[in-house]
Amino acid sequence: MSEQAASASDGRDVILQIRDLHTYFFTDLGISRALNGVSLDVPAGKVMGVVGESGCGKSMTALSILRLVPKPGRIVRGEIVLHRKQQQGASQVITEVKLTDLHPQGREIRSIRGDEIAMIFQEPMTSLNPSYTVGDQIMETILLHQQVDQVEAEARAVKILDQVGMPNPSSLIKRYPHELSGGMRQRAMIAMALSCTPSILIADEPTTALDVTTEAQILDLMRELQAEIGMTILYITHNLGVVAQMCDTVAVMYLGRVVELATVDALFYDPRHPYAKALLRSIPHVGSRTKARLEPIRGVVPDPYTTVAGCPFHPRCDMIRPGVCDVRVPTLTAVTDEHSVRCFLYSDQAEENHEG
Ligand SMILES: Nc1ncnc2c1ncn2[C@@H]1O[C@H](COP(=O)(O)OP(=O)(O)O)[C@@H](O)[C@H]1O
Ligand SMILES: [Mg+2]
Repeated sequence: MSEQAASASDGRDVILQIRDLHTYFFTDLGISRALNGVSLDVPAGKVMGVVGESGCGKSMTALSILRLVPKPGRIVRGEIVLHRKQQQGASQVITEVKLTDLHPQGREIRSIRGDEIAMIFQEPMTSLNPSYTVGDQIMETILLHQQVDQVEAEARAVKILDQVGMPNPSSLIKRYPHELSGGMRQRAMIAMALSCTPSILIADEPTTALDVTTEAQILDLMRELQAEIGMTILYITHNLGVVAQMCDTVAVMYLGRVVELATVDALFYDPRHPYAKALLRSIPHVGSRTKARLEPIRGVVPDPYTTVAGCPFHPRCDMIRPGVCDVRVPTLTAVTDEHSVRCFLYSDQAEENHEG
């Protein structure tokens, strides 16, 4: 069954459309259902946050988009469609590229990675090569995707390092990644990701390993560059404070599904899903000095090898309707034009039964 209303935008200006995405890991222990029907519209030119507890499928959603799901995982069902804007004469034409139909090692997805969709990770050393200088790596990306010569590539590398706030960029391009601090390495990775002016930047917890001051600088920087270039950012984080600061819209994930999709204001002032409400209650108040005030969410996230009948959140939910929530799976349904939620408190619509 296809789902409608999975939109936190007006639906017209969507750059990436994810429908009913299932990504499973086939292991000796059984099937781990990392993504169990993710549906999501990513609005073009905006920052969309993806939040949820560890293990809910944030990184696998990102890796599925780029077709980089590691073995023994694979996409088993659903689709991911990229809406590519192209200038044809005076008019703009939108073509659809079904990323889920591409071969994961094929030429087409490889040219999309880094060129149209770039990704930055929590740990920059996983994407920076320790044996090449920062400049060489950025130049290599530029040379690979843009028709420029060596000299022009170097000039562009220096310029982009300057843009991301690197001091002395022309001497910095001769340094190796291990010679830089964590914050500087993160900036170098952002520079590398931005060197091809991607239309979509996927940032997977890029500041989690940094101190708060550096984190604040990097967040400011990304927001600035985003506004300047008009890039779309999918910003993955487990930190709702970062969402409030960075994002326009937000998707809340639970156990491999999006359970709430809203503008940031709508989510913070009027959360609907009991899980989103609990998440919001668990963040310390602004100005609070202690982290000990966190109100933990009752129960634990079930392990992804088991299947939960009904709504995956029902074992932890305070609002459970027995006979409904533990039997059927609710669909993502619009409650307002900027707010969708997957919960029987708001709609009786259930998913058709299909074994997963
Ligand atoms: N190699 C793997 N084998 C089995 N399960 C995996 C593997 N990698 C990830 N998973 C499962 O996928 C789920 C989602 O992981 P992930 O997307 O990394 O979560 P998040 O980024 O939200 O913390 C996890 O619950 C995990 O158990
Ligand atoms: Mg992750």
